[in-house]
Amino acid sequence: MTTIAHGRPLEGRHAIVTGGARGIGLAIARRYLAAGASVALWDVEAAALADAVQQLAPLGTAISALVDVRDEDQVARGASQAQENFGRIDILVNNAGVLGPTVTAWEHTPAQWRQVLDINLTGAWLCCRAVVPVMLAQQQRGRIVNIASVAGKEGNGFNAAYSASKAGLIALTKSLGKELAASGVLVNCITPSAADTAVFAGVPAEHREQLRSALLARVPMGRFVEVDEVAAMAAWLASDDCSFSTGAVFDISGGRSMY
Ligand SMILES: NC(=O)c1ccc[n+]([C@@H]2O[C@H](COP(=O)([O-])OP(=O)(O)OC[C@H]3O[C@@H](n4cnc5c(N)ncnc54)[C@H](O)[C@@H]3O)[C@@H](O)[C@H]2O)c1
Repeated sequence: MTTIAHGRPLEGRHAIVTGGARGIGLAIARRYLAAGASVALWDVEAAALADAVQQLAPLGTAISALVDVRDEDQVARGASQAQENFGRIDILVNNAGVLGPTVTAWEHTPAQWRQVLDINLTGAWLCCRAVVPVMLAQQQRGRIVNIASVAGKEGNGFNAAYSASKAGLIALTKSLGKELAASGVLVNCITPSAADTAVFAGVPAEHREQLRSALLARVPMGRFVEVDEVAAMAAWLASDDCSFSTGAVFDISGGRSMY
């Protein structure tokens, strides 16, 4: 059956976007609202969350919750709140993430290593654990979009915890995609190259420019990806137009990694 694309492809859908207070998550929330969805933003930064909700309010229904994706109780509470507010959860975007230290693999402290893996990988899994049963119970429909990274395909030097966490998120996408393939819940991930966001804020100033130049040098198109470009892909993956892709990895890297 051929369907004709319309202006608000997410009309009536309800989404959770983790790490939604700024950067890529905020751009995805904005795009989803413009496409007709309502959105629950989860984040750990209260002030940024409040700003984000204020910015988004003219576009539609945007609610927020202070949810640290590492904490299974907070995740469960956030999922219940979204269900109570919206009646259902159609879309989960696992976007919350941190870059971690830019040092060799052996120079990470165990605490740094665990923090990156806890947020970027275990956090995404905890959110799936809370939301998948809800999606399965409601007319067998859902879309999960995981924001991974080219680092998860290539393994960036001086960023091992981050790269390992994103490789893990790609594998989680594939496992969950297979498990849910016949259920109507589709699970896909996006692997952006560098976007010019606050994710680099934790990098010491003396290394920041060097890191940004090194990342850009690897992108044949020679520029950062715009957050709105990632949001456009996340919108398609959340829509009914995405109907025969699951467990898949969608590149958006300006030609950096063509696999
Ligand atoms: N910016 C890039 O170059 C780039 C490239 C590829 C992939 N990504 C991925 O995109 C996602 C978004 O990155 P961004 O560039 O917008 O970064 P960002 O730092 O601007 O935003 C990340 C958001 O996640 C939130 N967050 C951090 N820890 C959290 C936690 N424990 N629980 C809930 N929220 C938490 C932060 O408060 C922040 O609002 C990340 O997963 C990142 O790894 C970014």
